[in-house]
Amino acid sequence: MVVKVYKDAETIGKAAAAMFAARVLEKPDCVLGLATGSTPIPTYNAMINYFKEGTVDYSKVTTFNLDEYVGLTHEHDQSYYYFMHDNLFNSINVPEESIHVLCGTADDLEAECAQYEAAIEAAGGVDLQILGIGHNGHIAFNEPADTFAAKTHVVSLTARTIEANTRFFASSADVPRQAVTMGIGTIMKSKAIVLVATGAGKAQAVHDMIYGEIDPKCPASILQLHPNVTIICDKDAASML
Ligand code: F6R
Repeated sequence: MVVKVYKDAETIGKAAAAMFAARVLEKPDCVLGLATGSTPIPTYNAMINYFKEGTVDYSKVTTFNLDEYVGLTHEHDQSYYYFMHDNLFNSINVPEESIHVLCGTADDLEAECAQYEAAIEAAGGVDLQILGIGHNGHIAFNEPADTFAAKTHVVSLTARTIEANTRFFASSADVPRQAVTMGIGTIMKSKAIVLVATGAGKAQAVHDMIYGEIDPKCPASILQLHPNVTIICDKDAASML
């Protein structure tokens, strides 16, 4: 693992976006793994800037998002499909047919997960995956558990995640209780991973990810076994290292 500590969220975003830009410039038809949440937004802003200034062309890129809430349509403003279009895709030139976000309203969610896993394989796997980290050490929606989930699957969200995500909804009762998410195995197959974290609330999770036992109780701890992980955080998130 390489750990980089930068002064603020904007600088972290620029650093992560530079990794994406480098990947796209080197391999224009690369496969990018994307995340939602607050932390990657500065990264997406910097990726948009690269496009607007003409430095990076995303027209041959394929993307796969980590996860989606069960029950929210694409039009719902808290769906991750909507988030990604609002925060990135509407401002760059990835063709819509090359954008993949799990469908949380599929009739058969198990089949949706299996199809998604197969589509990632068929695309040749993810070249560079961005991750955030939950206060409880979750990555994507892989919550603390007794085992690491291998593949894309349906999950029940923990009370802590529901509480953390209530800020985006009218009330905690409106936060979906389930999600579909890439598995830990899916994420670990990415060729390179960049994880971004900001704020003191992430300090314990960042510490446990790097120094803790590799344990599904802290899903991010599995990243210790990945050969190419860069963690980019601010001083607050790094305060327990
Ligand atoms: C969402 C995702 C989640 C978030 C995590 C941190 O696609 O993968 O694991 O990365 O919940 O969220 P923020 O960045 O909002 O603190």
